Amino acid sequence: MTCTIIVGGFFGDEGKGKIVAHIASHDKPTIISRGGVGPNAGHTVLVGDHEYGVRMVPSGFVYKDARLFIGTGVLVDPRIFLHEVEFLGVKGRVFMDSRCGIIDEEHIKRDKGSEHLAKKIGSTGSGCGPANADRVLRSLRLARDVPELAEYLIDVPMELNTAIDRGENVLLEGTQGFGISLYYGTYPFVTSKDTSASQIAADNGVGPTCVDDVIVVFKAYPTRVGEGPFSTEMTKQESDEMGIEEFGTVTHRRRRIGEWDGNMARYSAMINGCTQAAITGIDRVDKACFGVTTYQKLTQKARDFLAQAEDEIGKPITLISTGPEISQIIDLRGDP
Ligand code: IMP
Ligand code: MG
Repeated sequence: MTCTIIVGGFFGDEGKGKIVAHIASHDKPTIISRGGVGPNAGHTVLVGDHEYGVRMVPSGFVYKDARLFIGTGVLVDPRIFLHEVEFLGVKGRVFMDSRCGIIDEEHIKRDKGSEHLAKKIGSTGSGCGPANADRVLRSLRLARDVPELAEYLIDVPMELNTAIDRGENVLLEGTQGFGISLYYGTYPFVTSKDTSASQIAADNGVGPTCVDDVIVVFKAYPTRVGEGPFSTEMTKQESDEMGIEEFGTVTHRRRRIGEWDGNMARYSAMINGCTQAAITGIDRVDKACFGVTTYQKLTQKARDFLAQAEDEIGKPITLISTGPEISQIIDLRGDP
């Protein structure tokens, strides 16, 4: 591989961060660069005894040998970014494009204060929608206008394309999920930008001909935060009986839980140009699969689920996550 994109196939929170961490430790990319909307994304990490919701720095930061970039199309909230750089200790290897759009206090006020965004759509209140609106109106400030960010600014597309030309491995990390794409999701209950693999490439200034692999991450039991249609949603009683409960990283709202959606998986794989799929949470399909690291140790129930999902996705499932730890994964890439 040289250039791989990782995106979410359902409504976000599919466990992309864990897949990125695993692939990074195996494939040793020199750069991990994120695309996606901005600090509306959240990735939960354990630092000591504390759980942090990382919102600006790429979730690939756990892999220490890569430089970490924030792509041109991503909105930056300087307060959140500078705080994360400090507590994650990533100074010296984290950079952003000088053309990233900037979220100001005023965007957050407009997001939280808007009946339409905050109540009807159920936005994260992080200011992303209003900031993207201002970018379209060409009044938004950019990273190059903020003195405190000066030491972090680079030309992300130039760095990425140079690394790709040299044959280095690079990972482009998507955020959010297919179902909340501004174009392909459940409009108007969506985020403020497309979230598909093509957008993640564009966010980073990497042309389609330079992308070798698109890994779409699906959750065995999809979740959704915020309002909007969710055709396979379970009742709270059903998800409680299965022992599934999740809360959003950014807003701490309870995530809605659903059954596997084969139709959505197929459509999402198509628009993302999926080459391989990853499935997370297989231990929820069968608890006996928790922590298993070889395909041979999966139960028949889990194998049946995977066979059906693979048929629906139409591409090979090459990564199967069996628990929250980075080591709890089955990696079939490279197997015939
Ligand atoms: P906004 O992106 O904050 O405007 O929120 C619009 C919708 O997208 C809401 O339903 C949010 O809950 C959802 N959303 C935005 N970012 C994420 C994410 O990273 N994961 C899951 N849902 C998200
Ligand atoms: Mg998340």
